Amino acid sequence: MAQRIGILTAGGDSPGLNAAIRGFGKAALGHYGMELIGFRDGLRGLAENRFVELDREALAGILTTGGTILGTSRDKPHKMKVDGNTVDMIPTIVENCEKNGLDGLVCIGGGGTAKNANRLVKAGLNVIHLPKTIDNDIAHTDTSFGFSTALGIATEAIDRLHSTAHSHHRIIVCEIMGHKAGWLALGAGIAGGADIILLPEIPYEIESIAESIRQRAAHGRGFSVVAIAEGARDVADTKDMEAAEALVKGASSPEAKAAAKAHRASIEAAHRRNAFKVAEELEAATGLEARVTVLGYIQRGGTPNAEDRLLGTLLGGAGADLVSEGHYGVTVASQGQQAVPVPLSKVAGNLKTVPLDHPWITAARHVGTCMGD
Ligand code: F6P
Repeated sequence: MAQRIGILTAGGDSPGLNAAIRGFGKAALGHYGMELIGFRDGLRGLAENRFVELDREALAGILTTGGTILGTSRDKPHKMKVDGNTVDMIPTIVENCEKNGLDGLVCIGGGGTAKNANRLVKAGLNVIHLPKTIDNDIAHTDTSFGFSTALGIATEAIDRLHSTAHSHHRIIVCEIMGHKAGWLALGAGIAGGADIILLPEIPYEIESIAESIRQRAAHGRGFSVVAIAEGARDVADTKDMEAAEALVKGASSPEAKAAAKAHRASIEAAHRRNAFKVAEELEAATGLEARVTVLGYIQRGGTPNAEDRLLGTLLGGAGADLVSEGHYGVTVASQGQQAVPVPLSKVAGNLKTVPLDHPWITAARHVGTCMGD
């Protein structure tokens, strides 16, 4: 009897999702003779049993399209909002998988989805995870689809900001996505020739940035472009955040944990849009006019580039191979030119941040980029 598989996309959307759905789907249907259904809107659709049959027709013409044909959501299976209440939907999800006669489930998503997929594995489901995110922060995979396209978009934005910053003798601070990991700001900052790159991994001091801008001005370059990751913080704010994290980790009761998490969320909220604070502080410290550009969702939208289409297709097809062998409980990671199954237990909850000795950081410093430290 043909194997019957479910597939869904979860978390923030990302270029290359449809390439991965197609890559998995074409191999599953055409090569292995499986049946495939696609759940709508991530884990919410799985919990609510909303799905479509995915046949060859449904998979045609989607390789080049942005977003996800299935829709997505950031719902967590064990804590889903249902009629205003928070409900553990894992038993319902297991039931839905049984009801639909599913042999396996493919969850395409980022780090959060890896954690959720692992929760479903623990509940006894056969799950594989395909790694997508523009943040490139999933552990054990060299890269995730979506990153390359976003890198190109952010690089082009920095290119364009240069000419306007130069013409007006201004500082332009460009906010790039990445709350916990600075891969995108770092890669685009280097490729776009940003003068200053600020990452969550390297706490900055405004004075050292201001000094580098003053030095540039003294050498006749009265403009500067700053690439800042969403999650970059100065030294003082980083200490506050670390203290808030420590409170969460050390909380001894569920009540204390909830209070510590609320405190951490309020600190996070206060640090949101740090790009504006940086611009204000740099204006005051240098006397140069400063402006902010927030790239936002432009980084995630639109058609995937060749690299992301290729990676989505490769990992999707490799996922179908694993499913055909009954090899579940893994992330299909990209390592070198290979798709490698890595146990979800190793990937879930394990963020890949930029190591301080990463060659990209060395390269940025070699060309004289100020990293804010
Ligand atoms: O996809 C990851 C990410 O792009 C982060 O870098 C960003 O902070 C986040 O998603 C925001 O997405 P949303 O507003 O959809 O939650």
